Amino acid sequence: MADILIAPSILAADFGNIQAEVEMLNSSTADYIHIDIMDGVFVPNISFGFSVTSAIQKHATKPLDFHLMIEHADPYLSLCRDHGAAIISVHYEACRHLHRTIQAIKSMGVKAGVALNPHTSVSLLEDVIEDIDVVILMSVNPGFGGQKFIENTYNKIKKLRQLANAKGTDLKIEIDGGVSLSNALQLKEAGADILVAGSFVFNSSDPKDTIQSLRNV
Ligand code: DX5
Ligand code: ZN
Repeated sequence: MADILIAPSILAADFGNIQAEVEMLNSSTADYIHIDIMDGVFVPNISFGFSVTSAIQKHATKPLDFHLMIEHADPYLSLCRDHGAAIISVHYEACRHLHRTIQAIKSMGVKAGVALNPHTSVSLLEDVIEDIDVVILMSVNPGFGGQKFIENTYNKIKKLRQLANAKGTDLKIEIDGGVSLSNALQLKEAGADILVAGSFVFNSSDPKDTIQSLRNV
């Protein structure tokens, strides 16, 4: 089984010390820095915008994984690219012309991801799965860190992997929300490739060690 990749979510970091937090991640074994952008419309919370991502980009040496929890993603895709995005994920539920949005992301040379809320069936991706690099399966309802993991996520990973295999596409499955050492191994065994972890990493006494422990499962 391939190594699981870890994407700590900066949402749980100390924003009063953002440079130190990013430098801590730079010196860790994290694979990505996950960046949660919320608009207060698609989700009932507002996180931060491009002045903050610019500060993150200034210090980050790890690839940036942008997760857009916003209604109108299209006007902001090129800004995400300019702010260092290696992956941009948009929500299935927020994109009326998802195929067009995916093509717009890929045309900038950035990997395209689609995020699914817990209630959204993976089967809805059947006609677009070959165009996607990453699927984020939300294992909590998006909007907040520190929520409880939703157990049905395991079934969704298995179904999505079957769908990807049937189409012969090398899709990366990313799990976002409530990830910890209590579910990381089971998520890996179900077929996950990337685990996002916010509060579990940043609330731990040794975040770098916690990142390594998640990688080691
Ligand atoms: C939730 C965000 C997550 C969040 C995860 O809406 O998309 O990325 O930061 O936080 P934890 O790991 O604390 O559930
Ligand atoms: Zn996220």
